[in-house]
Amino acid sequence: MSRTLIKDALAASAPREAILLQGWVRTRRDAKAFSFIELNDGSCLRGIQVIANATLPDYAQIEKVTTGAALEVRGQLVASQGQGQKWEVIAESITVVGLADATYPLQKKGHTLEFLREIAHLRPRSNLFGAVFRVRSRLAYAVHQFFQEKDFIYVHTPIITASDAEGAGDMFRVTTLDLAQPPRNEEGQVDATKDFFGRKTFLTVSGQLEGEIFASALSNIYTFGPTFRAENSNTSRHAAEFWMIEPEIAFCDLQGNMALAEEFVKYLIRDAKEHCAADLEFFSKFVDKELLARLDFVLERPFQRCSYTEAIAILEQSGKNWEHPVSWGANLQAEHERFLAEEHFKCPVTVYNYPRAIKAFYMRVTEGCAPDRQTVGAMDLLVPGIGEIIGGSQREERLEFLREGMAMHHLSEKDYWWYLDLRRYGSVPHAGFGLGFERMLMFVTGVGNIRDVIPFARTPGTAEF
Ligand code: 4AD
Ligand code: MG
Repeated sequence: MSRTLIKDALAASAPREAILLQGWVRTRRDAKAFSFIELNDGSCLRGIQVIANATLPDYAQIEKVTTGAALEVRGQLVASQGQGQKWEVIAESITVVGLADATYPLQKKGHTLEFLREIAHLRPRSNLFGAVFRVRSRLAYAVHQFFQEKDFIYVHTPIITASDAEGAGDMFRVTTLDLAQPPRNEEGQVDATKDFFGRKTFLTVSGQLEGEIFASALSNIYTFGPTFRAENSNTSRHAAEFWMIEPEIAFCDLQGNMALAEEFVKYLIRDAKEHCAADLEFFSKFVDKELLARLDFVLERPFQRCSYTEAIAILEQSGKNWEHPVSWGANLQAEHERFLAEEHFKCPVTVYNYPRAIKAFYMRVTEGCAPDRQTVGAMDLLVPGIGEIIGGSQREERLEFLREGMAMHHLSEKDYWWYLDLRRYGSVPHAGFGLGFERMLMFVTGVGNIRDVIPFARTPGTAEF
């Protein structure tokens, strides 16, 4: 007999003479002549009730079963007498696959998220994390579905790289040099030419630059992979290792880029609502009461758009006492982003055309709108509760402007020769963006900390598991 997943058993349309279930015990309650065991296998939020009669052959063994133990149950699927469940299983045999020690830390009572982070090896067995990781899996699938349906080509960009795509300098070094005794050159500096790749290398912060290479050949591409940032930010929305989806579209401008970003975010929300309904209901009950209403609200309205210059005026006129002062030229901080999305627009909003000096070297210089040539075609999508979930831009496709941007950011043309070549051979207007997958998951689940939507969080000072 092959195994039935509990989600399929619970959704059965008729009783079954014989069924095989495998899973972990959530609770066991004893009555006089039998035990009730709630079994969960992670296929859905709910467990199924198993009735173990005291007459079962191995009942003495079953009596040792506690929360966390692994069982294999054979029996009949019958209509349940109890309330709140349609089906239950009358066991005919139960094999104890693995007992759980009495020290099993996940008990029925609720645990704090902080405590659960310390037992990241067991937390997927809790209701909350089972739900989070089912939604994560589903949305990863939906990401591919969205782009594949649009004929975007999936490109695997490298994880080890020599270039700093964002120019922010917060990269993890990759080296095989002996740190205690590195080879040195004549000036006494560490000699990177003796390193594994014959040069300095890092973990990538973004697949964008390589994505642009492929968009310049295959037209519409996307990447979906892990990215790494060594910024020492201990916030609820920053991780040192996170997953990013980066589409790159040839023959596309900033307007087209914004439209695609909006369509993408709405597609993912719709997909989660359709395929993870029970898990979203759980979040709206126990994590964020407003979640479902907010997701519907977001789906029903067009996202707002507002230039950076307009955003600065809104912030200046807000009468708020900002922790980070607002002035044209300064970067928007989380408090500003959240004010715009939560209080001013009360809706996701795309802020575009940021000052050239605070954005990456590859962004396209904007002409013909004041202040002329002082801004670039950047766009950030800000959402209530989180702030920025997407960062993107139209890219500078004009060689001379790009060289100027690189000089402003003190980047060497020698290091980016291949990137400049794209502007020499059939350069076309193109644009793209990056969606932080974990931030999207926070938005869809209402979970407030990035550490709780990634299986194993990498943040400053923590890399257990
Ligand atoms: O705005 P960012 O830095 O943009 C880029 O990397 C571009 N190369 C993307 C592109 O145009 N192809 O990052 C994009 C998104 C952010 O909006 C945010 O959602 C997420 O990645 N992100 C982080 N998520 C978690 N932890 C961090 N430390 C993050 N840094 C960025
Ligand atoms: Mg950004």
